[in-house]
Amino acid sequence: NGVTVVDHPLVQHKLTLMRRKETSTASFRRLLREISTLLAYEVTRELDLTTMRIETPIMEMDAPILEGKKLVFASILRAGNGLLEGMLDLVPAARVAHIGLYRDHETLEAIEYYFKAPEDLENRLVIAVDPMLATANSAIAAMDKLKERGARNIRFLCLLAAPEGIRRFQEAHPDVAIFTASIDEKLNEKGYIIPGLGDAGDRMYG
Ligand code: PRP
Repeated sequence: NGVTVVDHPLVQHKLTLMRRKETSTASFRRLLREISTLLAYEVTRELDLTTMRIETPIMEMDAPILEGKKLVFASILRAGNGLLEGMLDLVPAARVAHIGLYRDHETLEAIEYYFKAPEDLENRLVIAVDPMLATANSAIAAMDKLKERGARNIRFLCLLAAPEGIRRFQEAHPDVAIFTASIDEKLNEKGYIIPGLGDAGDRMYG
């Protein structure tokens, strides 16, 4: 149905530590970086391979390498940067797009304040990252923008998703597969994911 829940035991264990309110900023950041490396592994699991002729010290062989152009990671600021770092640990040659959005605290509408992406989004797989999919206003706006700039092949990766957000996101962008570490219970009246982990941006940056 377009949603993959990454149920790897290390992901689930680290997520629990991140949810705990006594987890410090330093630990939260380190855990986010670790968890994002594991999520990057899952979200890239089905990338196409081709082969390249190489020489080992013993002989020549056709060895597997990733097919196509370098990936693009699109970080939805600010909190997306926490996921971005761990993903770049695993795919250091990836290109990076930055999408600045914040939620208006009254209307929960996503307000754009920055957008910068590599030129040729058309021919690349774009993996958009943001720890939280709550109302999905931010993620939907980010996908609108990426598509407007030519992206045609996009995946969305988050840590926590609310069922309401998943529904809205899929209505707006049925072609974008979602990867998440957890589908939580619901949104509260303020638009926070519950049980959730609080505000990811604030827990990382204060
Ligand atoms: C948070 C979060 C998402 C967004 C999710 O960002 O990081 O971007 O809210 O909510 P939504 O699905 O209802 O749009 P926030 O606006 O707090 O900005 P920040 O990352 O800069 O702290």
